[in-house]
Amino acid sequence: MSGSSPVIRLLGAGRRFGSHEALCDLDLTVHAGERVAVLGTSGAGKSTLLALLNGSLEPTTGSMEIFGENPARLPAPRRRLLQRRIGSVSQELALIEQVRVVHNVNAGRLGRWSTARALASLVWPRSLDVVRDALDRVDLGWALHERTERLSGGERQRVAIARLLVQEPELVVADEPVSSLDPVRAAGILGLLGTSPTVSTLVVSLHQPALAREHCTRVVGLRQGRIVLDRPAADVDDADLNDLYTLA
Ligand SMILES: Nc1ncnc2c1ncn2[C@@H]1O[C@H](COP(=O)(O)OP(=O)(O)OP(=O)(O)O)[C@@H](O)[C@H]1O
Ligand SMILES: [Mg+2]
Repeated sequence: MSGSSPVIRLLGAGRRFGSHEALCDLDLTVHAGERVAVLGTSGAGKSTLLALLNGSLEPTTGSMEIFGENPARLPAPRRRLLQRRIGSVSQELALIEQVRVVHNVNAGRLGRWSTARALASLVWPRSLDVVRDALDRVDLGWALHERTERLSGGERQRVAIARLLVQEPELVVADEPVSSLDPVRAAGILGLLGTSPTVSTLVVSLHQPALAREHCTRVVGLRQGRIVLDRPAADVDDADLNDLYTLA
């Protein structure tokens, strides 16, 4: 694996918000095929790190490459192409509440469609078979024509996963994608992301270390914006987790 070029490479990367240093001096290289869990207490910097990796935020220090390119330096068309290869679920889900579920799932395909085709799809939803299949995989086949705002938090989280599946990204960056799910569904969704044939690399933040150990190959622990743990998931023990979660 070390011979292949990395999907993610951070070198001395940091992110400030005003005078607050949310991430500091991160060195992180992730290769295709890895499933990386990002753990840490609330405020440790997980969402900030994942926002760097999905291209929605730039580091203020150091360097970052995704698929060998620095997103911030790319001209808009090449940046869009790069963005298509990255599937993202944010903590806020970014669903449009007032429309039916089918449209939110189809939003995962917008990057491949012309504006005209995307607008037409709002009236006559396209690719219904693809959308149906994705919703079936997250156990929401019944919700195709439901209004999104009527769904529960966990159901909305699964709509965001279905949107990601239809995008067919190579890299998935998912920020607490199972936080509202019961334990069985949470394990099911992580299993789905981990075994999806189109997703080669996964970076997922979690608040449940047991899920990280079961579904990921590697655990990265953040504490006050720094990486304090980076180890194969199978080698992470309770002492590591106690250290990580002990409040300073
Ligand atoms: N846009 C912002 N402006 C100012 N400070 C921010 C911003 N985003 C994050 N921060 C700060 O950066 C730190 C890390 O935040 P982040 O959201 O990355 O934590 P987290 O590990 O995802 O926490 P949680 O588990 O609660 O989601 C926090 O102290 C937060 O207040
Ligand atoms: Mg967060």
